[in-house]
Amino acid sequence: MKRVRIFNDLKRIGDDKVTAIGMGTWGIGGYESPDYSRDRESVEALKYGLELGMNLIDTAEFYGAGHSEELVGEAVKEFEREDIFIISKVWPTHFGYEEAKKAARASAKRLGTHIDLYLLHWPVDDFRKIEETLHALEELVDEGLIRYIGVSNFDLELLKRSQEAMRKYEIVANEVKYSLRDRWPETTGLLDYMKREKMALIAYTPLEKGSLARNSCLAEIGERYGKTSAQVALNYLIWEENVVAIPKAGSREHLEENFGAMGWRLSKEDREKARGCV
Ligand SMILES: NC(=O)c1ccc[n+]([C@@H]2O[C@H](COP(=O)([O-])OP(=O)(O)OC[C@H]3O[C@@H](n4cnc5c(N)ncnc54)[C@H](OP(=O)(O)O)[C@@H]3O)[C@@H](O)[C@H]2O)c1
Repeated sequence: MKRVRIFNDLKRIGDDKVTAIGMGTWGIGGYESPDYSRDRESVEALKYGLELGMNLIDTAEFYGAGHSEELVGEAVKEFEREDIFIISKVWPTHFGYEEAKKAARASAKRLGTHIDLYLLHWPVDDFRKIEETLHALEELVDEGLIRYIGVSNFDLELLKRSQEAMRKYEIVANEVKYSLRDRWPETTGLLDYMKREKMALIAYTPLEKGSLARNSCLAEIGERYGKTSAQVALNYLIWEENVVAIPKAGSREHLEENFGAMGWRLSKEDREKARGCV
């Protein structure tokens, strides 16, 4: 079994250590339906990211209607499982006590392994459904199918309400959109609250679909550090102690670049300047 050479820029999710930059998989294996045309490249890309030393992979039952999870499963199987942290998510149509358990079992089957962090993908209006799903997940922790419970796209109020609904285990993470261009977790108090609660904020769409990689103002800031615009945009996020970012990258070049966003930090002044770039 290959080991993932875990890098020194580590963050906490629950009691586990994960790299500050992970790998997103929306589009890997398809979007809303499966796409089998690029399977080999996709698996190779994920394996390359693991070989570089990124140990965090984000997937969901929704991605490629399950095919993304299959490709993640294929990519991780040659590696020491305990070196890797896999996130998956239950889609709202599968919320509810029995449905959520069934969905988690199907995800774990496609992955060929347990799920380290299982998230409620999006909130629904009916809080009882959320509560029921969270309680089902607590039982899945006891069964060993998932290790930690989290949510995604929950605002501060809903996050607090969900925390109160837990019976045995804590919500250890909230995965939300967070980028230099979309700093709502900072302005709504969500980030500060999660920091105080020692909860991981998993930042999705951190490159704004790649557009922050083409920002000349960020590139100028990066020059002082020998870093690129994309690396500045990602470093801005992981600068916060409880934030990890999960850019999706399909090429070796992008994976290497994103990996290089770790292991250094922007100065406070440059971080402030970066805000003015977007
Ligand atoms: N929980 C949720 O509701 C939710 C919602 C959206 C996304 N997510 C997760 O977050 C992940 C990331 O978000 P995202 O995919 O929406 O957007 P993103 O990571 O901001 O952008 C991905 C795009 O950026 C490009 N890219 C990656 N690294 C680059 C680099 N160094 N330089 C230039 N371009 C680069 C990629 O191109 P290549 O593919 O060509 O490398 C891809 O087109 C998703 O894959 C998914 O796992 C979660």
